[in-house]
Amino acid sequence: MIERPRGTRDLLPEDMHTRNRFEETLRRTCTNFGYREILTPTFEHTKLFTEKSGPSIVEDLYAFKDKSGREIALRPEFTASVMRMYAQSLRERPKPLKLFYFGPNFRYERPQAGRYREFWQFGTELMGPDTPRADAENIALAYSCMRNSGLRDFQLKISHLGILETYLREKNVAGGDVRKIYHAIDRGNIEEIASGYGFMDELRMLLSADMEGMRDMVDDTRSMDHLQHVLNTLELYGINGECYTVDLSTVRGLDYYKGVVFEMEAESLGAEKQICGGGDYSLGDLFGVDISSKGFAIGFDRTLLALEKDSVSYHEWEPTCYLIPLGEGSMPFTYELLNTLRGKGIIADIELMERGVGKALAYADRMNFRYSVIIGEKEVEEGILTVKNMRSGEQMTMDKEELVAELEKHES
Ligand code: HAM
Repeated sequence: MIERPRGTRDLLPEDMHTRNRFEETLRRTCTNFGYREILTPTFEHTKLFTEKSGPSIVEDLYAFKDKSGREIALRPEFTASVMRMYAQSLRERPKPLKLFYFGPNFRYERPQAGRYREFWQFGTELMGPDTPRADAENIALAYSCMRNSGLRDFQLKISHLGILETYLREKNVAGGDVRKIYHAIDRGNIEEIASGYGFMDELRMLLSADMEGMRDMVDDTRSMDHLQHVLNTLELYGINGECYTVDLSTVRGLDYYKGVVFEMEAESLGAEKQICGGGDYSLGDLFGVDISSKGFAIGFDRTLLALEKDSVSYHEWEPTCYLIPLGEGSMPFTYELLNTLRGKGIIADIELMERGVGKALAYADRMNFRYSVIIGEKEVEEGILTVKNMRSGEQMTMDKEELVAELEKHES
């Protein structure tokens, strides 16, 4: 038997039902904030990802040479592709430009619970405004996506990379080493770089400091004021200090971030608990454009796991009407009824396996249909249908128009 490749999943009809509901919620929330959907290719030139994403992405790329010898990679994320698309096709559009996307990404990581080699992201990018209010809009949208999904048990952490950078420069840390320190912090292991620096205990204190502590320890009024402005604006969205923590150890794993960054975590997920990450970044110079950009991506699969742990369930699939024709003579009438129902957007299906009434009804019940209609030649002649309410077991008789009207009530 040929197995699935490691780190991939088959998504069953039940999985897809839940995923589609969640996707609809995210899509609606983004649209509600004035964002519009885009999509970029599944594979790109490898260089797009190796230039600025940093080692955490580059080490995990699914990269190969195509038949013409081009270096190609499956996309590990969308942001670099969206910036390429912006530079090629969208730079003349009025600002702010608000974009969202949804699709699979590929990273050659060690698979474990919540970490896959093929996983989906739902993300956004906001191009144009370089203001604290734009950072707040970015965070508020991510927060609203999570709240609207029904998830309650998650933590939002907000930081400003400028503060940490100023601190490290004050300590005379060289440019390249600043990133190394970020990566170590991101991996939760600052000890691995501790030996070379004499300020590790102080850094540890800074990483757990509150706003006041940061102001005392770092001379960077500009970044501090910017961050404070973002927090004040979040308050206007109804997102107050109880909804987040300011946490300088939130540094992000990718190298293109600069100002305000944030992450969301669901503790219930254990090791792979990060369900969303994003912030202010700089990628325009890859394409010779100078544009402010802020965004985030929600780990779609992980958030679904968190929703499950939080006991949030979306409504089950409830198809509306199952038609059971008995004998060839009833086929034209039954198909006409089927076409009418489907034409009205009602979820209707027809028995295809030529089973007897008992077995066909048992199937309709297992598939969670609300109604079944048994259509014999007598029903066709008289134009009166026997309709079974599958929830109550009650049988009703009605003509075709009455049936359509009854079923339409459930679709709205
Ligand atoms: P990221 O933090 O690399 O950011 O990924 C975003 C989210 O994708 C993570 O928080 C996590 O939930 C999910 N994720 C990442 N890797 C995996 C995996 N192997 N299996 C399952 N889920 C995973 C970005 O990708 C940025 N492009 C976000 C962004 C958009 N920043 C600005 N705009």
